[in-house]
Amino acid sequence: MCGIVAYVGNRQVTPLLIEGLKRLEYRGYDSAGLAVVNDEGIHVGRSVGRVSVLEAMVNENGGFNGTLGIAHTRWATHGAPSEPNAHPHGGVTHEGHRIALVHNGIIENYSTLKKYLIKKGHTFESDTDTEVLSKLICELYQGDIEKAVQAALREIDGTYGIAVVCDREPHTLICARKGSPLIIGVGENSYIVASDAAAIISHTSQVITLEDHQVAKLCAGPEDKLGDGGPWAVQFKTTTVDNIPVTPEVTQLDFDLEQIELHGFNHFMQKEIYEQPEALRNCLRGRLDHRDGRVVLGGLSRYSRELIRAKRFILSAQGTAYHAGLIGEFLLEDLAKVPARCEYASEFRYRNPIIEPDSVAIAISQSGETADTLAALREARDRGALALGVVNVVGSTIARETDAGVHLHVGPEIGVASTKAFLGQVAVLTMMSLYIGKRRFLSDEVVRSYITELDQMPGHIERVLEQFDHIRACTEHCIDRDNWLFLGRGYNYPVALEGALKLKEISYIHAEGMPAAEMKHGPIALIDQGMPVVFVATQGSQYEKVISNIEEVRARGGRIIAVATEGDERITQYSEDVFYVPAVPEALQPMLTVIPLQVLAYHAAVLRGHDVDKPRNLAKSVTVE
Ligand code: F6R
Repeated sequence: MCGIVAYVGNRQVTPLLIEGLKRLEYRGYDSAGLAVVNDEGIHVGRSVGRVSVLEAMVNENGGFNGTLGIAHTRWATHGAPSEPNAHPHGGVTHEGHRIALVHNGIIENYSTLKKYLIKKGHTFESDTDTEVLSKLICELYQGDIEKAVQAALREIDGTYGIAVVCDREPHTLICARKGSPLIIGVGENSYIVASDAAAIISHTSQVITLEDHQVAKLCAGPEDKLGDGGPWAVQFKTTTVDNIPVTPEVTQLDFDLEQIELHGFNHFMQKEIYEQPEALRNCLRGRLDHRDGRVVLGGLSRYSRELIRAKRFILSAQGTAYHAGLIGEFLLEDLAKVPARCEYASEFRYRNPIIEPDSVAIAISQSGETADTLAALREARDRGALALGVVNVVGSTIARETDAGVHLHVGPEIGVASTKAFLGQVAVLTMMSLYIGKRRFLSDEVVRSYITELDQMPGHIERVLEQFDHIRACTEHCIDRDNWLFLGRGYNYPVALEGALKLKEISYIHAEGMPAAEMKHGPIALIDQGMPVVFVATQGSQYEKVISNIEEVRARGGRIIAVATEGDERITQYSEDVFYVPAVPEALQPMLTVIPLQVLAYHAAVLRGHDVDKPRNLAKSVTVE
């Protein structure tokens, strides 16, 4: 949830840390801080608010010169957003040496450890669990920071991604992880560590992904200080927390810096909305075999027999990914004819679920790091299910912990509000359903026709996006309204949920999504003159029923905004505003109907003057439960 950047090398560290933090701001941003080590000791700067506030403070105060440093953007969990609670945290060892530490994750046994450390004479300045870890390292320090970190981590229950420095070892950076991502970029004469590849990619594409329970010791300095290599030497060592050596694997990052910059768009969300046709082409590339009329999913081929035999699919996810999972539930039952249920991962993991033999669990996640989704996946796998992942970030924890899976290949998603990842998730679940369906009950002809239709979807999305300005004009009419409803049926019911989530998370307008028929069972009482009610009302098996629901709302004064099928003139009699999408089979409609709702939410947030890419209280990747 929070972001970490750390560096040891031969360049001035402060500008590197600030640049890295800015790239990570989207992960969490109520406060930020850094610590730089030089001959005079450790210099710590912390501030509440954006990284630019920290940058100004550091520039004003000076003293932050050095080639070793750690930095952090925080999203509060233990303790309010405040300067004392911002990272880095630190402490003083028995011999008077200072250490500083940044941490992502949660130390679950922090209160027991805190009592112990207070008895040992340590005092605390913050309300955070992180400070407990920093003091524990000080308590256990006996002249070797690597050993002290290992010893402290052996006492910790919970999750961590950490970077630690000590003024007695001014060329050494220690980092470690358990349950929170941490990547080490291997540069020339340097190492850069970050919780997210976005902070590394401008320096190097060679990376080591630290595994759970691993500790890395990274050193860089003049050769006389390290006793190795040329005039500037670097050293690298990885162990477990029990000090057993580990041989790390260096891999290549699979995206470049250009992909994560704005390219003339005002916001990442806007850019990512517009990237969707291309993102979908990339997601589908090489997976639709027109000649043989089949879907090719290399990631699943080892398990095709288990998938054909499967008696039940359990999909789990959170937020937008959960809505994609609900569509996956329809797709698997409709196309693959296999029972499927989508659940909130956070509920599934704690409800002692019954997993029958021949069950397949699918974890859906853009980041691949969502704590609840990961835990649900582990729960299902431990109870005997085949564990599959539908994940965007290659090398993420969920991607690595599954038996098999399918990557989205939609490119990095920077905007906090998920758009192109949702599209990719639905596209992958569609392909998975066809892949399984073809091996079960679907005729070759039906699979072929879906493949042809899927191929045309990127072009259809381009057509929907031509209404970008029209959607803005319609949004303006209702921008002063504080309560909205989003309604749909069948495949478009999860789209209604997603439309409501998008609107509330970035515009802070209260919105509810639900099945259109459910409205009569209570929520209809909310409808008053001019209340915006968005109907996903495309032509399909339930079109007439949706029209009846629209009439019920109109009769009570609601203002109807419809997402409808191109050529549907009738809908204009019932609606103030219509956003059209091309006609496609019902199973493929969500990939189109969601687009105008993303655009609507985007315009609403901009019109209300909010920071679209950094909505309040939200972070991109929720690595705490
Ligand atoms: C909403 C949004 C969140 C995420 C959710 C799961 O726009 O982005 O609801 O969908 O936090 O995140 P991932 O997909 O990374 O597991």
